[in-house]
Amino acid sequence: MDLYEAIHKRRSHRLYRPEMPPREALERVVDAGLWAPSGMNTQCWDIAVLAGKARDDLVNLINLSIAKIVPIMQQTGVPEKSQQRVVAFFKDLGGAPVVIAVTVWQWGDATGAANIQSGSALMQNMLLAAQAEGLGSCWMTAGSLVEKEVLEFLGKTDQQLLAITPIGYSAKDPPVVPRKPREVRWLGF
Ligand SMILES: Cc1cc2nc3c(=O)[nH]c(=O)nc-3n(C[C@H](O)[C@H](O)[C@H](O)COP(=O)(O)O)c2cc1C
Repeated sequence: MDLYEAIHKRRSHRLYRPEMPPREALERVVDAGLWAPSGMNTQCWDIAVLAGKARDDLVNLINLSIAKIVPIMQQTGVPEKSQQRVVAFFKDLGGAPVVIAVTVWQWGDATGAANIQSGSALMQNMLLAAQAEGLGSCWMTAGSLVEKEVLEFLGKTDQQLLAITPIGYSAKDPPVVPRKPREVRWLGF
């Protein structure tokens, strides 16, 4: 798949079919992530690819975040229907058979925010590669609400949780979320 096509066709998928994607496809997705740039070439990340019981255990932890996100959504005026959709998605991550979790090294040295940016480059590479493989994904920071528990589960308490993504064959084409006309300035042309 052409890169521009992958960029424009990638969507956040929130409903998946139960079939397991081929292991080779998942390995290519992860490899694409690992080829992301990183600040000072620290490659400051770890990836966990979870299926079966490991996936279920992580999803159970993400479930714990529902009690935290509901009051936030209520306070910020998220419509009731959208709240229900969020809760339903958190409950089983849309039934995705695989979840990928990305952790990055802690801040605290000269690399600072670069670790987050490096991990984000890795995430986006994986999402685009998933699209090229015909797989759906959904970048989720929601797990950060239960970051401590997730890091303990992953055995990465010395790191920070960047994001997770469910990954699998999509069961429903999500609507295209229109992009807003943000300022783009071309200077010196
Ligand atoms: C940093 C980040 C965090 C996100 N966290 C969540 C999340 O926790 N749950 C979720 O359903 N979607 C999450 N998303 C997906 C966005 O909602 C989605 O990208 C946006 O609505 C645009 O839709 P699209 O990805 O289909 O183009 C996140 C995306 C990013 C980049």
